[in-house]
Amino acid sequence: MSRTFRIAPSLLSADFARLGEEVRDVVDAGADWLHLDVMDNHYVPNLTVGPLVCQAIRPHTSAPIDVHLMVKPVDRLVPDFAKAGANLISFHPEASEHVDRTIALIKECGCKAGLVLNPATSLSCLDFVLPQLDFVLLMSVNPGFGGQKFIPYTLEKIRQVRSRIDATGRDIWLEVDGGVKTDNIVEIARAGADTFVAGSAIFGAGDYAHTIAAMRAALAGA
Ligand code: DX5
Ligand code: ZN
Repeated sequence: MSRTFRIAPSLLSADFARLGEEVRDVVDAGADWLHLDVMDNHYVPNLTVGPLVCQAIRPHTSAPIDVHLMVKPVDRLVPDFAKAGANLISFHPEASEHVDRTIALIKECGCKAGLVLNPATSLSCLDFVLPQLDFVLLMSVNPGFGGQKFIPYTLEKIRQVRSRIDATGRDIWLEVDGGVKTDNIVEIARAGADTFVAGSAIFGAGDYAHTIAAMRAALAGA
């Protein structure tokens, strides 16, 4: 089978005092994308980084920067992250008053657009907008913190989103975020994911290349 899998380390678990070096190291270790978690202490109970940090890491790599916006409201920040070098931007439908408008805005800014579904968010929010999306990001933990346990019922959700994507006939990526480890990545892939965010599993291990290689080796059997 020749499915393309992407591994997107979440910088949330990186050493923020050495972020440029962490970015270079993890890309050298085999990362495909860099996942940047933006939290606002309003939509989620944590506070992380803004466009300034995206701009600061941009010169350190040519790998795509995948900005996961956990902020409310969303729209004002989209052009700022695009200018700061983001390649992909995703947002939560609960955080936008006008989901269709936000998707269009992300694309107008020249980025790939993704919608993020929390574990308990109904798939009905994809009903009309799925064909407009470049990717769907399914949360397999509640957003706000790294290092949480994968919620098993989200596997069924991954399967359902996969079949909805397949029904569109479009190449819409299916990214999964939260609790992804070397020992569960295969079942997540078999459920239909093609892109894997992993924070603590990669940055929590000393040897990034070893962990990413172990994930790819596991995916080869998916
Ligand atoms: C949680 C974030 C995740 C988080 C994943 O709100 O969206 O990207 O960093 O961390 P791990 O891989 O440790 O669950
Ligand atoms: Zn994330």
